[in-house]
Amino acid sequence: MTTEPRSKAVTVQDIRGRKGGEPIVCLTAYSTPMARALDAHVDLLLVGDSVGMVIYGMDTTIGVSLEIMIAHGAAVVRGAQQACVIVDMPFGSYQESPEQAFRNCARVLTETGCAGVKLEGGQAMSETVAFLAARGIPVLGHVGLLPQSVHTQGGFRTQGKEEAAAAQLHEDAQAIAGAGAFAVVIEGTIEAVARDITSHLDVPTIGIGASPACDGQILVTEDILNLSGGRVPRFVKRYADLGASVEAAAAAYAADVRARRFPGLEHCFGAKPISGPRKRESPELRPAGRITAKTG
Ligand code: KIV
Repeated sequence: MTTEPRSKAVTVQDIRGRKGGEPIVCLTAYSTPMARALDAHVDLLLVGDSVGMVIYGMDTTIGVSLEIMIAHGAAVVRGAQQACVIVDMPFGSYQESPEQAFRNCARVLTETGCAGVKLEGGQAMSETVAFLAARGIPVLGHVGLLPQSVHTQGGFRTQGKEEAAAAQLHEDAQAIAGAGAFAVVIEGTIEAVARDITSHLDVPTIGIGASPACDGQILVTEDILNLSGGRVPRFVKRYADLGASVEAAAAAYAADVRARRFPGLEHCFGAKPISGPRKRESPELRPAGRITAKTG
């Protein structure tokens, strides 16, 4: 088990080589400070198109643009020293043709400095994955619940419930792995289906709402920190309540500003505390103008 911060950057080949090994630890990140905080603790940082819902308040990921992904991808790469950074391809940027996918994936790779891209879809995307992999673009596949296909999948629903649907999921995962994906995300499926796919695929599977048997796990960071606001899916485990901490900090700041306890002279430039005998006075009554300018 890795407990020490690692000293070498994780590559897509390292991730590919973790099939059946130590679980691959993955989280999402959208910003430089978050990437810095997570970097030493994870193997892979995904700049997910979930950024649209988590950061921009969209209802689905469908409205996320290539420009948004590139801006957040570059920010995360700036903050990551060790984790393998993968950027999601947004809806409409890769489905039209392998050529369109290559053009846009090449932009993401060159403009962000990330190690690879993720795209959603099974059999229908296998030709594109093969086209990209053959041209030097590492691809992380994504099967099962596909947020970009929310309208055709009938909402955010668990996949693989019926026998035929489970068989199709197997086909999808096999097709993407066979096309050259270095790993495959399995999202929102019946546990046994994800377990079975994992045991048959020769590349790692990364589960989210899938199975503990997957070769790795991923969650949306804001969900585990209670920063995404509102309800989270059942597959999320909460590790901190930063939402409550943010509210408490905002309330304390507001109270300080209203009571003129903030800023203090120590937060001001060119001001020094008033000399002479110290009189206790209520912060509410302290005149804002009693700051003496420092000279010299
Ligand atoms: O967009 C995203 O964050 C994702 C992960 C949750 C797998 O696709």
